[in-house]
Amino acid sequence: MNKKRIVSGMRPTGKLHLGHFHGVLSSWLELQDDHECFFFSADWHALTTEYANPGFVRESIDDLFLDWLSVGIDPEKCVMFRQSAILEHAELHLLLSMLTPVPWLERNPTYKDQLEELKEKELNTYGFLGYPILQAADIVIYKANAVPIGLDQLPHLELTREIARRFNFLYKKEVFPEPVAMLTRTSRLLGTDGRKMSKSYGNAIYLSDSRDEVKQKLSTMFTDPQRLRRTDPGDPDVCAIFTMHKLYSPLNEVEEIDRECRKAGIGCVDCKKRLIVRLNDALEPIREKRAGYAADQKRVKQIVSDATEKARGIAKKTMEEVREAVGI
Ligand code: TRP
Ligand code: SF4
Repeated sequence: MNKKRIVSGMRPTGKLHLGHFHGVLSSWLELQDDHECFFFSADWHALTTEYANPGFVRESIDDLFLDWLSVGIDPEKCVMFRQSAILEHAELHLLLSMLTPVPWLERNPTYKDQLEELKEKELNTYGFLGYPILQAADIVIYKANAVPIGLDQLPHLELTREIARRFNFLYKKEVFPEPVAMLTRTSRLLGTDGRKMSKSYGNAIYLSDSRDEVKQKLSTMFTDPQRLRRTDPGDPDVCAIFTMHKLYSPLNEVEEIDRECRKAGIGCVDCKKRLIVRLNDALEPIREKRAGYAADQKRVKQIVSDATEKARGIAKKTMEEVREAVGI
């Protein structure tokens, strides 16, 4: 048993959609077989932007665990817990904040982008600037070897490595290994309006959508915008429905649609009908699993509380080493 330990978190800010599934979650599913996995809901990180809406964050936490479990994140293999249940993350965050130069935080490209993007929120806060320090604490407190993350999170991991190095150097003790990034797949799934699938665009298909919701959403989904009449030839390469067929339909059907669409041999209505069946079939086992867990909340609570104990044990041990290294 010499599995590499990986740690990753997700902010609880609403239910997960197909884009999450084909990006992060499918990577987690692959990793869980041969890694020691720690997955947590980063509720404090969610508060850095949602501090005025803690209710929304609170409600999203249980949904997040249900989403994970329903796609097959296996509680026998993965430790799943919430960040805020383990106060040691906060203590380590504090200690790491002492030794992190502010310019490291200010030059972080993700920070600058988000300030720009979320203009409607007041994000000139201390907590938001310190976001990567909390993330560093989340990771090094478990002495993770690797961190599965999306491209946008790479600067945060680089900061984690720099902070870990600085700690080890200052206190002359190799308390923290420097974790490496493991890039998760990026999903290029398009939403119902043809833009990238995203909660904020309101164009997402959720893992928890019912059969009818899926049918409804796909029926009104954008296709090739140039294809106005049934007799117009279409271009599958620019069609959001086609990007999904490639994920959910067998190859021979995908090829057939590709061919027929280009010569107006198939209409969008029929093409969508086929996808509705395929996608609903693919989501059915996920729905069943979700229903099973949703009906047995006690079991979910038990899974999370066992995991929390396990994570806490490790975090406490690391903090003993940390306090000894710092000497305070
Ligand atoms: N910042 C990450 C995101 O927005 C979430 C996160 C918090 C995280 N702590 C982490 C990811 C630790 C990996 C490891 O997606
Ligand atoms: Fe898209 Fe299918 Fe219509 Fe072609 S037939 S434009 S692939 S929905």
